[in-house]
Amino acid sequence: MLKKYELALKARENAYAPYSNYFVGACLVLKDGNYIIGSNVENASYGLCNCAERSALFSAISQGYKKDDILEIVIATINKIPGSPCGACRQVISELMDSEALVTLINPTLTNTISLKVKDLLPYVFTGEELNEK
Ligand code: THU
Repeated sequence: MLKKYELALKARENAYAPYSNYFVGACLVLKDGNYIIGSNVENASYGLCNCAERSALFSAISQGYKKDDILEIVIATINKIPGSPCGACRQVISELMDSEALVTLINPTLTNTISLKVKDLLPYVFTGEELNEK
């Protein structure tokens, strides 16, 4: 199995999801050959839950990586049809990853793997450019 898939599935096992029992893992593939993983981390105060995609991306930015350093995000769930990123994550992915970068959705058996581009995740996306317009 490709390392990026193994790591996303491993990250899924690391998820802290005692409330939803929905375990999600993410793995960023970086241009320099490194990988960064993230898991969903829940909280008894439900609104504080963080998705796996955002855990991975915030970790990458915290480690000094920039938009152009990220080639792909692999997202792992156990679903027969692999789970899809939520709206909040689509917004964050759209800002922190290149529009041509890949989003790949997998499950443990690697059946029904779906791959699309960041630009296809969120049509008519809100960007920082709009903040400067009057
Ligand atoms: N979750 C993710 O980690 N990624 C998504 O894109 C969808 C939702 C998590 C958040 C929460 O911990 C659990 O899945 C149920 O919503």
